[in-house]
Amino acid sequence: MPEAKNQDAIALLKQDHRTVEELFAQFEKASGEGRKERLAREICLELSVHSAIEEEIFYPACEGKVDDELLKESYVEHDAAKLLIAEISAAEGESDEFFDSKVKVLQEEIEHHVQEEERRETGLFSQARKAELDMDALGERLAARKQELTERFKTEGLPKPQLTTMADVSV
Ligand SMILES: [Fe+2]
Ligand SMILES: [Fe+2]
Repeated sequence: MPEAKNQDAIALLKQDHRTVEELFAQFEKASGEGRKERLAREICLELSVHSAIEEEIFYPACEGKVDDELLKESYVEHDAAKLLIAEISAAEGESDEFFDSKVKVLQEEIEHHVQEEERRETGLFSQARKAELDMDALGERLAARKQELTERFKTEGLPKPQLTTMADVSV
């Protein structure tokens, strides 16, 4: 479905959250390896684009204007999700007995993260709104970058995870 034009930043990001929640719900109900794998791939694509545009555009705009601890936790939560996303993207459903569990744990992590962003009053988005960021201008940049990255990831595949907060451990 094409994005509505001229969405403000928070509307766009919340719409992404709803899209991915719907995909997780479909995954839970899905049967058949092929269908599950397709849905998992879609979830990974959506989340990869979403976390990239937040980290490139939205989070930096929040810097100095929202609770610093909350913002830092957001980056760490993204990194934790990127590891599972990389794992899920690499897995073949039939040969990984933990495939469904990985998707489930990713879903739980994302639910928590979305809550931290959307919580009323104290969530990241509420704080950003109170700080009077230019949500229309940010929305335009997010939408443009989202389109660009979605096309790139669809043709080239998901990139190797770029971790923002974790450098000391390799597995
Ligand atoms: Fe988000
Ligand atoms: Fe996020």
